[in-house]
Amino acid sequence: MNILDIIKTRRNIKKFKKDPIDKSKVMEWLDAATWAPNHKMTEPWEILFLGPETREQINHKTNFGDAPVVFVVISKKGKTEVEREENIAATACFVQNYMLAAWAEGIGTFWSSVAISQRNRDILNISDEYDVIGVISSGFPEEIPEPKPRVAITEKVKELN
Ligand SMILES: Cc1cc2nc3c(=O)[nH]c(=O)nc-3n(C[C@H](O)[C@H](O)[C@H](O)COP(=O)(O)O)c2cc1C
Repeated sequence: MNILDIIKTRRNIKKFKKDPIDKSKVMEWLDAATWAPNHKMTEPWEILFLGPETREQINHKTNFGDAPVVFVVISKKGKTEVEREENIAATACFVQNYMLAAWAEGIGTFWSSVAISQRNRDILNISDEYDVIGVISSGFPEEIPEPKPRVAITEKVKELN
């Protein structure tokens, strides 16, 4: 697939096959993700892989779709509110890079923010120095949802003088 096909065919996957995925591949995609743009090279992202006990504890509404690999992505807030916003933007780019790298090799991902509660932050021992960007599940897709159509970009564009 070329880059446009990868971008346009990725879907938020809610059901995964039980087949394991190679952790070294996950690390390869996370490594690729670190090439995300990030202002002042703050590299604000950190990853928490969730084992079965932790998953059980945080009691995710969707049960992670039975994904073989689940991790939480957190973003360092930094020194100012501006830096915090920049870091959240950079970490979102990081997540998208990961998802596209995985999808290029047939691995689907699910980005969820449902599990981000104070209770779960406490269980995961996430300090106030971090924003939680999402819980990312990865695995071979059991079902690939139909595309959700997008508003034409021409409707979102303004030409300013
Ligand atoms: C910050 C963020 C949080 C999200 N949280 C959830 C979530 O909690 N539950 C969910 O089903 N999808 C969640 N999604 C996925 C979106 O719902 C999904 O990307 C959107 O419906 C478009 O579908 P597509 O990615 O398959 O094109 C989230 C996406 C983002 C960027």
